[in-house]
Amino acid sequence: MDEQYWDDMAERFEGGVLEIAGLDLEGVLAEEIKRLRWAGRAAADLGCGPGSLLPQLAEAFVHVEAVDYSQELLDKARLRHARPNVRFHRADLIEGGLRGMQVDVVFCVNVLLVPKRGKLEKIVKAVRGALKPRGHAVFVVPSFESVLHVHESLARCRRKDGAPAGLSRKKAEKALHKAVHSFVEGVVDISGVLTKHWTQTDLEGVLEDGGFEVERVRKVPFPWDEELTRPPEWLDRRRPWDWLAVARRVK
Ligand SMILES: C[S@@+](CC[C@H](N)C(=O)[O-])C[C@H]1O[C@@H](n2cnc3c(N)ncnc32)[C@H](O)[C@@H]1O
Repeated sequence: MDEQYWDDMAERFEGGVLEIAGLDLEGVLAEEIKRLRWAGRAAADLGCGPGSLLPQLAEAFVHVEAVDYSQELLDKARLRHARPNVRFHRADLIEGGLRGMQVDVVFCVNVLLVPKRGKLEKIVKAVRGALKPRGHAVFVVPSFESVLHVHESLARCRRKDGAPAGLSRKKAEKALHKAVHSFVEGVVDISGVLTKHWTQTDLEGVLEDGGFEVERVRKVPFPWDEELTRPPEWLDRRRPWDWLAVARRVK
């Protein structure tokens, strides 16, 4: 999962696929943006991808810095969401390319995905470095608990609806073990790509160790059909989710 990978993914974002703004069914992230507009004038979207958050950020803040290392995605973001108060930069967060950026609020949405802890820590450090002291950061990350929930739900479908729905307990167990590359590190194989997934406690720990004070952690539920083909309607109530953490730079 590197710059080239994200350049190649640029086409998949067409039509809203993989874009957080379109998947935030309950408006959790939108609510946090509204809440944090009072935290200052300048915001950054680090790892902005094709820029689905930019319209909301441009509306809520006086200045917005949009950063990504994928030129293809950055071009797409500029094409779709250029605004007079949004500045686009190409930079690698791991290489520390933010050149003294100092904003009040950073959004880092579905960027902490690489399976290497050292790289994740560097991204957290870059987010911290881009913030003014006591500035706020909003991180959204894939939830490891949600992966368990999906597999539990597959077994539940079989129990409730019978074969061929869902999976037997044994098959669900097997599928989970096949998908999870490391339980300790929360690394999950998503269509052949090893992707970091976070437990709430892992996320809180990494943010605290990275110089943040965690203020709140919330679920960002997304549609079942992102995880299952033809999910039964009764599954709707407890959707799969990403974690959202709001944290403040300690000093
Ligand atoms: C899953 S996409 C999320 C895009 C957007 N934040 C959203 O939620 O719609 C991950 C984005 O992070 C960017 N990214 C990942 N690692 C990065 C790094 N080290 N430096 C800069 N951008 C990075 C990728 O290029 C990609 O655009």
